[in-house]
Amino acid sequence: MFAKEIYRHRRDVLKKTAGSGVLLFLGNDECGMNYEGNTYDFRQDSTFLYYFGLAYSGLTAVINVDEDDTVIFGDEISLDHIVWMGAQPTLKEKSESVGVQTTLPAARLPGYLNAAAKKGQAIRFLPAYRAEHSLKLQQWLSIPPAAQKPSLEFIKAVVNMRIYKSAEEVDEIEKACNITANMHIAAIKSLRTGMRECEAAGIAAQTALAAGARLSFPTIATVNGQILHNHYHGNTVKENDMLLVDAGAETEMGYAGDMSSTIPAGKKFTARQKEVYDIQVASHLAAVEALRPGVRFEDIYDLSAKVICEGMKALGLMKGSSDEAVRLGAHAMFFPCGLGHMMGLDVHDMENLGEEWVGYDGEPKSAQFGRKSLRLARRLEPGFVLTIEPGIYFIPELIDRWKSEKKFADFICYDRLEAYRSFGGLRNEEDYLITEAGARRLGKKIPLTAAEVEALR
Ligand code: GLY
Ligand code: MN
Repeated sequence: MFAKEIYRHRRDVLKKTAGSGVLLFLGNDECGMNYEGNTYDFRQDSTFLYYFGLAYSGLTAVINVDEDDTVIFGDEISLDHIVWMGAQPTLKEKSESVGVQTTLPAARLPGYLNAAAKKGQAIRFLPAYRAEHSLKLQQWLSIPPAAQKPSLEFIKAVVNMRIYKSAEEVDEIEKACNITANMHIAAIKSLRTGMRECEAAGIAAQTALAAGARLSFPTIATVNGQILHNHYHGNTVKENDMLLVDAGAETEMGYAGDMSSTIPAGKKFTARQKEVYDIQVASHLAAVEALRPGVRFEDIYDLSAKVICEGMKALGLMKGSSDEAVRLGAHAMFFPCGLGHMMGLDVHDMENLGEEWVGYDGEPKSAQFGRKSLRLARRLEPGFVLTIEPGIYFIPELIDRWKSEKKFADFICYDRLEAYRSFGGLRNEEDYLITEAGARRLGKKIPLTAAEVEALR
């Protein structure tokens, strides 16, 4: 945990910016995997962590802005719990460690909210992303899940704080990034033809767990890199395959790292793989070079997409103007996703609070295939932490569909593309902090260029 003054300061700022009423912070509960006593790893809600720092289940907090009152609701653990799981500090001790003086039993929460509502106070809450949150809101506020309307003012106030990473948060993120880099370096060094994808995923996970971290999201380790979020790990890596590894660590305090590597099964990429890989690296480096405050991330996405188009033209897979191709969306044949996302306490930071505020600052979002998947488009500011992860993907189903529709036939050379339909996909990903002067990579460098990757094989 950070020092209690940090949490107190964050709450003070929020009180001044989130309007009036009672702000409700729902902590997370334990979640049974297949029966109640066999739980998934407990993960506290990130906004709760940001303002209250306590990674224990069964807590709810309120900030009563009108009455300048902050309370943590929860119950002391039972003797049974102590016997099986060990002792914990008391609720009072936990709360004092983050600068909160008032604690009440969980059973008092509905009464507290009821009394506030009777006084005419608005009860404000954030979007519920777990069923337990919706059920609690229903129970406490008598609002059925479908009618639960999160407070926009509250969302915007939280986003406007969490989006700027403080120095101590950057230190934590950098710790996560260093472990994440080691996960990738270990996977790159140890991959061998004949290994199964799950072994590479295991090597990455072992590196994170041995460093006292855990995974910030389910690892992708796949010979089918063209499936963007592929969590299947059952294939065997064959000669001339590439393994795409997208994996990250989360520190004990909950801060994430997120990197991707693409590894040849042999010591070197094949000539055809290297041609495509080099285009992706050029796109990646162009994006990194462009990172600075004041630039719209969507413009950097356009730039990286144009580099991919130019590369595809050199391979004879595209033709025509790259500017036009990107404006109209033809590049999405090869790059059908965004360039990156915010990262912090969540790997896709604050995704539960809504992309329109986190990634778009309220600006409208494109509906165009590919471009609509940009999680981040807004103008960059110092303190933002984000990923850079362009990729090049050959998706047989997309090729077939667009070819049959003659879609973007002025830009895509479908006849030559056939030879690449089983190429797969590749991506590299790094994490950056936007600074006053430009940007700084977070964490130890992982191999990016083909030569850097091959040097570790
Ligand atoms: N690393 C997984 C993702 O960014 O979606
Ligand atoms: Mn990512």
